[in-house]
Amino acid sequence: MRVASIGLFGLLQLLGATAAQIINDTTPSLAFKVVSGGNDNYFLRDNLTSAQMLLTSANSTSVSRRLVVALPAGNSGALTYFLPAGTSANGTLGVSLVDGSLRSATADYFNVGVQVDLAFDGNATLGVTILGAVRAMRDYVEGGGVMHDIFNYTLGEYNETAVRLHRQWINTTSPSSSDYNGANLYLSVPADSSARLSVIPGNNGTWTPPTVHILVPQNGSGTGTGIVTVKVVTNETSLAGLDTQELFLPEGTNGTQALHTALQGLASGDLAAAKQVSFLTYTDKFTAGGWRFLTYFGRDSLIALRLLMPTLTSEAIESALGAVIERANSTGALCHEETIGDYASFVNMGNGHPELGNEPYYDYKMIDTDLLLLPAMSHYFLDLPQGQGRAEQFFAQNATLQNGTYAEILNRTVFYNLERATPFSQSPNISNLIGLRPGQPVGNWRDSNEGIGFGFYPFDVNTALVPASLRATQALVTAGLLNFSRLDASQIGEVASVWEAQAPALFDVTVNGTEAEARLQNFVRAANLSSALLEGSGNSSAGSESGGVSFYALSLMEDGTPVEVLNSDTSFNLVYGANVSREFLQHVVDALQPYPRGLLTNIGMVVANPAYDSNTTNIDILDRAAYHGTVVWSFQQGLMASGLARQLGFCSRDNTTTVDTNPTPSPAPSWCSDADFVQSLRDAQTRLWTSIQGAKSEIYSEVWSYAFDNSTNTFSVVDLASLSPSGTESDAIQLWSYGFLGLLDPSGNSTRS
Ligand SMILES: *[C@@H]1O[C@H](CO)[C@@H](O)[C@H](O)[C@H]1NC(C)=O
Ligand SMILES: *[C@@H]1O[C@H](CO)[C@@H](O)[C@H](O)[C@H]1NC(C)=O
Ligand SMILES: *[C@@H]1O[C@H](CO)[C@@H](O)[C@H](O)[C@H]1NC(C)=O
Ligand SMILES: *[C@@H]1O[C@H](CO)[C@@H](O)[C@H](O)[C@H]1NC(C)=O
Ligand SMILES: *[C@@H]1O[C@H](CO)[C@@H](O)[C@H](O)[C@H]1NC(C)=O
Ligand SMILES: *[C@@H]1O[C@H](CO)[C@@H](O)[C@H](O)[C@H]1NC(C)=O
Ligand SMILES: *[C@@H]1O[C@H](CO)[C@@H](O)[C@H](O)[C@H]1NC(C)=O
Ligand SMILES: *[C@@H]1O[C@H](CO)[C@@H](O)[C@H](O)[C@H]1NC(C)=O
Ligand SMILES: *[C@@H]1O[C@H](CO)[C@@H](O)[C@H](O)[C@H]1NC(C)=O
Ligand SMILES: *[C@@H]1O[C@H](CO)[C@@H](O)[C@H](O)[C@H]1NC(C)=O
Ligand SMILES: *[C@@H]1O[C@H](CO)[C@@H](O)[C@H](O)[C@H]1NC(C)=O
Ligand SMILES: *[C@@H]1O[C@H](CO)[C@@H](O)[C@H](O)[C@H]1NC(C)=O
Repeated sequence: MRVASIGLFGLLQLLGATAAQIINDTTPSLAFKVVSGGNDNYFLRDNLTSAQMLLTSANSTSVSRRLVVALPAGNSGALTYFLPAGTSANGTLGVSLVDGSLRSATADYFNVGVQVDLAFDGNATLGVTILGAVRAMRDYVEGGGVMHDIFNYTLGEYNETAVRLHRQWINTTSPSSSDYNGANLYLSVPADSSARLSVIPGNNGTWTPPTVHILVPQNGSGTGTGIVTVKVVTNETSLAGLDTQELFLPEGTNGTQALHTALQGLASGDLAAAKQVSFLTYTDKFTAGGWRFLTYFGRDSLIALRLLMPTLTSEAIESALGAVIERANSTGALCHEETIGDYASFVNMGNGHPELGNEPYYDYKMIDTDLLLLPAMSHYFLDLPQGQGRAEQFFAQNATLQNGTYAEILNRTVFYNLERATPFSQSPNISNLIGLRPGQPVGNWRDSNEGIGFGFYPFDVNTALVPASLRATQALVTAGLLNFSRLDASQIGEVASVWEAQAPALFDVTVNGTEAEARLQNFVRAANLSSALLEGSGNSSAGSESGGVSFYALSLMEDGTPVEVLNSDTSFNLVYGANVSREFLQHVVDALQPYPRGLLTNIGMVVANPAYDSNTTNIDILDRAAYHGTVVWSFQQGLMASGLARQLGFCSRDNTTTVDTNPTPSPAPSWCSDADFVQSLRDAQTRLWTSIQGAKSEIYSEVWSYAFDNSTNTFSVVDLASLSPSGTESDAIQLWSYGFLGLLDPSGNSTRS
């Protein structure tokens, strides 16, 4: 380690750097902590690295302590468990971070990463350790303990005060220093610590992990204390981050009162959330969330961008747009997720292409990502001041990850989307809707098989995103910013109008009043809720004026049968759609009622509600422990809030609370002249924000679930991962949840922190 830091010093000297610059360059530009889901998350970005380090919180009742280090560099890191050993085996082990000890670190052969000092209150043994790819770590954590022996680490040099575990990348390019080409995890004992290590190599080569004990001397009360430094480094290339002042427009940027309010504390980083979202953004891509998704995801980037865009700089917006364009395939489909680093070698081998080595693997399985780019681009270049006059230069840019200019790549995407949309415009049947790709059980944001109720045609894609993508293309062509031969703006508009007019009705579900009540009563019993939730103020059956309940299905089965799950995906139509009908908005008003009649709990809006479903097996499939079940996804709340502001803004725009700029259609929608109807939308908006405010401390996290208290008939926030052994852990910071930074609660109550 000492050698390594001298190595860095020497390197900087070679580059002509002075000592002052070294201090400047390694001063963290970001250093903050987020407590979430029973974990303390520490974040660090400086000129050497970007890293998230997560440690089980001190008050956890779990017997072991987990440490995760995740780096966007190569999407690599380490996962390890510290288990209580010896006398402490009877109690829980305490492992805590020594305040201020997280710092960037280097090691031989340009390995870079982070290190931290951990205080142990008893003897410990190193448990399962996965070193290298974040995806391999996720396979273990989310896949019920799945491990692939190809990712086995080896024991490096060790003694009583230091040990190195080494993960050599599958595709090592330079044999001479190959021992460092990969990831390394070091445990070492600082000079003033009395901790000691005991390392016993495994008895079957690399197959069997070594036994590593951390020993601390016992004090009078039978416990002990000892400090051990943990360092995780890799020689993957670090990414250049977008700091808050590069990401956000400066305070005082010319604009509405709402924009002024929204920009407070963003560029300066005074708002903690501004630093958090900054950690997820880089000059060449936005990453989706930490720790589990610290790499490119197209959908997450584009939805987050749409919500945050009014507050972002041109450079930041173009970074996110460019990242999506760069990763398009030659057919024009857009990339959902990139796999890089060691895991890319593994995926390439699994696909029968070992010759590709660790070249990134880009996945095109989703059907929504293709449709999200054009709407983001048209909003930027046509609606927002940041995009004015920048299109020509942007489109002329040469891609770096593939051949061609951005315009040439976009040309393929535009025609790809148009071709896929055309059959329905000629014959608007269910079989001409856009279904999941062959062999794929997922395709939209609810990307678990259960998430769309095992359906085939997702609602959001077919009713909102297909026409929105076409309208955006039409607008860019009309404005003369996109200019591809064979492309006729009015023809694109005609295709879009068929989708707008015909697709939603195919998803309409109506349940008569008596049947709906019976299903609700059954649901509250099955879901261990109380029938008291069905009474009281604000409770009227969805669409009760007709004596029944009407809403849009989550998806359609391949044969057209609707999946009768009330859901929040109408948010996409509100944000992205043109010509959203009055009937559609009525469904939104009806859905924004107290759960379980609607979606709103006192701790947020659930994204799915199977209460009205004639297929009662969905009650269990989409329950409060399911990743896309009766749980709250923060970005969905953001989309719904943004969409309501946009639709209401078509009638009259509130410049003190509406941050985003959305051009008003001409003529304004006819429902704008019905004051009662507009008021019902405003009331729904108020109910939504009240629900959001009920869990405002959670809004930047990915997802949460509820516990129901039947003495008060209220809900409280519960960590999703704690509800079931297979429950998916939520990210502490999630890119698209920061969409709230581009929104203001119309009541004037702040959600900002
Ligand atoms: C950081 O760099 C600036 C100029 O780049 C210099 O003025 C300043 O003194 C440096 N700070 C430290 C702590 O060396
Ligand atoms: C630990 O503390 C946090 C924050 O104080 C709290 O939210 C959480 O419920 C506590 N967990 C346990 C298991 O006590
Ligand atoms: C744990 O503690 C209990 C009671 O204090 C004792 O009976 C038991 O033997 C202990 N187990 C171990 C493994 O030390
Ligand atoms: C190697 O992989 C096997 C199979 O997944 C696993 O049981 C073993 O613990 C691994 N060894 C190391 C050192 O990671
Ligand atoms: C233990 O190993 C570390 C790292 O290799 C080395 O710096 C240290 O001098 C060694 N200690 C002893 C007592 O050999
Ligand atoms: C990591 O180091 C090895 C050995 O020096 C080298 O071959 C490899 O190119 C390096 N990888 C990166 C991404 O720098
Ligand atoms: C040793 O490891 C190999 C795989 O490398 C495995 O096939 C074998 O069963 C192991 N032997 C023992 C005794 O665990
Ligand atoms: C840890 O283990 C060592 C060696 O067995 C022992 O001497 C020491 O007392 C143990 N520490 C604690 C806190 O129990
Ligand atoms: C570190 O700073 C130098 C110049 O000060 C810059 O060229 C380089 O890109 C920076 N590296 C990262 C990872 O931010
Ligand atoms: C500020 O924006 C308004 C319109 O939003 C415009 O009329 C005015 O000229 C702008 N002022 C400056 C200094 O750019
Ligand atoms: C990557 O490693 C795998 C496994 O060792 C090997 O089969 C493949 O040829 C390597 N690819 C390259 C490009 O080196
Ligand atoms: C691009 O992705 C789409 C969607 O998965 C696929 O249909 C198409 O074949 C891909 N194109 C190429 C050249 O692989």
